[in-house]
Amino acid sequence: MASFPSAARLLLLVAAALVLSSVSAAAGAGGSPPLAKGLSFEFYRARCPQAEAIVFAFLKDAIRKDVGLAAALLRIHFHDCFVQGCDGSVLLDRTNGVDSEKVPVLLSFLAKIGLNADDLVALSGAHTLGIAHCGSFEERLFPKDDPTMDKFFAGHLKLTCPRLKVDNFTANDIRTPDVFDNKFYVDLLNRQGLFTSDQDLHTDAKTKPMVTRFAVDQAAFFDQFVKSMVKMGQINVLTGNQGQIRTDCSVPNAARSAGDELPWSVVETAVETLVL
Ligand code: HEM
Ligand SMILES: *[C@@H]1O[C@H](CO)[C@@H](O)[C@H](O)[C@H]1NC(C)=O
Repeated sequence: MASFPSAARLLLLVAAALVLSSVSAAAGAGGSPPLAKGLSFEFYRARCPQAEAIVFAFLKDAIRKDVGLAAALLRIHFHDCFVQGCDGSVLLDRTNGVDSEKVPVLLSFLAKIGLNADDLVALSGAHTLGIAHCGSFEERLFPKDDPTMDKFFAGHLKLTCPRLKVDNFTANDIRTPDVFDNKFYVDLLNRQGLFTSDQDLHTDAKTKPMVTRFAVDQAAFFDQFVKSMVKMGQINVLTGNQGQIRTDCSVPNAARSAGDELPWSVVETAVETLVL
């Protein structure tokens, strides 16, 4: 039950990013990020004024039935945008590995696609929701504890992952696993971040002040998260006559599959080794 209002809050954020409307209101005094040519916050206002309400109602219902969907949707949106741009290519059949990297490497990669340190810190806050499998953090527990991890937390994780290669999972945010809030940053302050890439945000002098700020000011986190999601949602976005609307989400349309696909971008190669 506690997760319900939070899921609704997340929906606001996700729906804003997906439908790209009413963000200026949500983004508050700081204003909204610039839009790629061909995108408009008003696009649906005349031709489908109910678009946002329909998406919102559908997601609200789906997430009420399964709160894990909020995390899954959020993550798939991120993966879609980081692999070849936000074009739904993540839905095509493919495999990806899971790894993490040091913050400076992530930052220099993000800079290439127009994201900055603020975006990295805010977007990583998505780890306030969802789960992670032992394989995503077990190298921080074995053969010995990562010294940057709180001892109590490491012991807690070992109840779930008692040795290497156990097929189990745990919540990303130990404090409020199903609530979209700023507790992820409180975790980091307490050295209870699950992934190295997350804990690094608090270790690195460049990102530490923002981690602290978001930990004490949830509104500041929400504000930056909306802005960063709108930015992320426009990475190499296809507009106008570019791309295609697939009849089957997992397969390119037959007529175009022969050789009309986008080239596998530098983003794809870089991110598969660094981020995903
Ligand atoms: C910055 C680099 C990032 C790294 C290295 C990273 C890494 C990971 C890893 C290792 C997992 C656990 C996967 C598993 O073991 O099942 C995970 C889960 C998740 N990630 Fe990230 N992530 C990053 C950024 C993001 C961003 C930008 C978002 C969204 C805005 C995001 C949203 C999520 C969510 C919601 C989950 C939970 C998925 C679920 O429960 O189904 N991550 N991430
Ligand atoms: C999986 O994790 C739970 C706690 O989250 C634990 O009780 C259980 O023993 C773990 N399973 C294995 C095979 O270690």
